[in-house]
Amino acid sequence: MRFENKVAIITGAAGEMAQEMTRQIIKEGGFVVTLAIRSSSLDPFLEELNKENLTNYKKVIADISNKNEIEKIIEEIIAEHKKIDILINHVGVTQCESLETTTSELWEKDININLNGTYYITDACLKHMKNQRDGNIITIGSVNSDRTVGNPAYSAAKAALISYMKAIATEYGQYNIRANTVSPGSVRTKAWDFRIKKNPETFENLLKWYPLKRIATPTCISKATLFLASEDAYCISGVNLRVDAGLSAGVAPFAKDITSESFGV
Ligand SMILES: NC(=O)c1ccc[n+]([C@@H]2O[C@H](COP(=O)([O-])OP(=O)(O)OC[C@H]3O[C@@H](n4cnc5c(N)ncnc54)[C@H](O)[C@@H]3O)[C@@H](O)[C@H]2O)c1
Repeated sequence: MRFENKVAIITGAAGEMAQEMTRQIIKEGGFVVTLAIRSSSLDPFLEELNKENLTNYKKVIADISNKNEIEKIIEEIIAEHKKIDILINHVGVTQCESLETTTSELWEKDININLNGTYYITDACLKHMKNQRDGNIITIGSVNSDRTVGNPAYSAAKAALISYMKAIATEYGQYNIRANTVSPGSVRTKAWDFRIKKNPETFENLLKWYPLKRIATPTCISKATLFLASEDAYCISGVNLRVDAGLSAGVAPFAKDITSESFGV
């Protein structure tokens, strides 16, 4: 029971990775504040939890990019639960696929939700974590943060979030606060539906880029995140843990062209 009596907040709680994390934290004795932007996307999941008798959660509907709303919600959580042990920043959105289709409005929107929104909720929690002399923050990043694979504004925000987590790890480590990033490669979630609609073979095509010849599932991301959220990662802070089936390790087609050997491509 890694999360006995722990209070966790998970943002973007309707997403499949967040659902896995929520279910597991509750199963392991914790309480989860499930924060989602819309009731309609979260409610079916909460109904599933109820059927499984996993009722140790609170539903909160809010937009993380609304600073005042978020600060108020964090104060309400503290008033009710007295502490916040774990914050999992899971919200991630992208409005534009390439620079060609990026406008300044879309750029600002991506930066505002992914980067500023994550800052607002993290900063609101940090104040209390500092008082508690205890806290654990995990932000879901992306392999996009250090290579161009589309979504430039989103990628810039994700890169900045790694830097932000490192700043927290460095400056707030003295208060027993850990901060880490988990960076997934491709994961088949609802967010991919529009691309699959354009090309049903998207994932089959992607497979060749992954050295392990498999693609991470929401469960893979949840397991890595909850490892960092647990005491098993007691001395781990400021890392960017890639969960990408080897994608970031190298570029096999490039190695193949250099050496004229197969490299599995
Ligand atoms: N799916 C992938 O291939 C992949 C790859 C790398 C990183 N990621 C990251 O993993 C996380 C989850 O991705 P996903 O594919 O499950 O996406 P998703 O869209 O299914 O989940 C994100 C959730 O965030 C919510 N959300 C969006 N804006 C919000 C706001 N302003 N306030 C509150 N909630 C908001 C959405 O409603 C959604 O439920 C994201 O951080 C994403 O960037 C995903």
